[in-house]
Amino acid sequence: MSKQPIRKAILPVAGFGTRFLPATKAQPKEMLPLVDTPVIQYLVEEAVNSGIEQIIFVTGRSKRALEDHFDSHYELECLLEDKGKREALQEVQSLTNMAEFFYVRQKQPRGNGDAILSAKNLVGNEPCAVLFGDDLVNAEPPALQQLINVYEQYEDPVIALTSVPHQQVSKYGIVEGETDDNTLFKLRDFKEKPDPTETDSSQAVIGKYVITPDFFDKLEDMKGSIEGELGMDNAVNALLGERDLYGLEVEGTRYDCGDKLGYIQATIDYALKHEKIGDGVKDYLKSLNLD
Ligand code: G1P
Repeated sequence: MSKQPIRKAILPVAGFGTRFLPATKAQPKEMLPLVDTPVIQYLVEEAVNSGIEQIIFVTGRSKRALEDHFDSHYELECLLEDKGKREALQEVQSLTNMAEFFYVRQKQPRGNGDAILSAKNLVGNEPCAVLFGDDLVNAEPPALQQLINVYEQYEDPVIALTSVPHQQVSKYGIVEGETDDNTLFKLRDFKEKPDPTETDSSQAVIGKYVITPDFFDKLEDMKGSIEGELGMDNAVNALLGERDLYGLEVEGTRYDCGDKLGYIQATIDYALKHEKIGDGVKDYLKSLNLD
């Protein structure tokens, strides 16, 4: 059987963003910008630059702004055209054309595995990518492309990893597994937010996956029997007895945009790199003379 390309990506965006209240009371946390570009746009660009053609958003209440962001805006486009603002017009129009967008609602907030399961029928019987909204990795090739490269070699699910200080493992999903190069791991276990005494591993899961159709089957099988939230860890552990799964420590700079400090770090770095304001931001930061 010939290899199935990864054409679809699921982006779960139904969460309330409680860590950013009050900013996220009436607007999606994914629309918070790094300078002038919402975090979610960077994720869609990562997907598209990794060969994804169809984006499936798993949304919930009060996510309308996100849908509008990737839709055409007739009045705005006419206005920009009339004023001769060609660059801005192109930028606005390119958002709509960069991929095909689909939306499905997660009925109840029942965990990240449940969110993924809501997209099962839109994905169908093919492998797909999953990108959670908080984890941004600035990398070339994009982090998702790095995962897809591993998928193409083994045709097994692949999870993005980053190495964290051991005392911080209780903030993350942590995987254990065998490795020859400390980069690619053949997984043995996925522990969601373990105590540092419960694992020797410091390989933390970041929110990027390539999954196969049986991943959905496992989520579906477990949906009724799991008390509380259905997590990605449940499906990974259930699959581990049946097939190989891999974890890849991705190259690049990772930002946790779901955390206030991580978000500010990303803002500063993206502002410093910004072609129009980068020099000004640098001068300003130097002028602060912080010790
Ligand atoms: C989630 C996942 C966890 C992962 C983390 C990465 O946790 O459940 O496995 O390591 O994202 O950011 P959250 O940060 O939503 O509590």
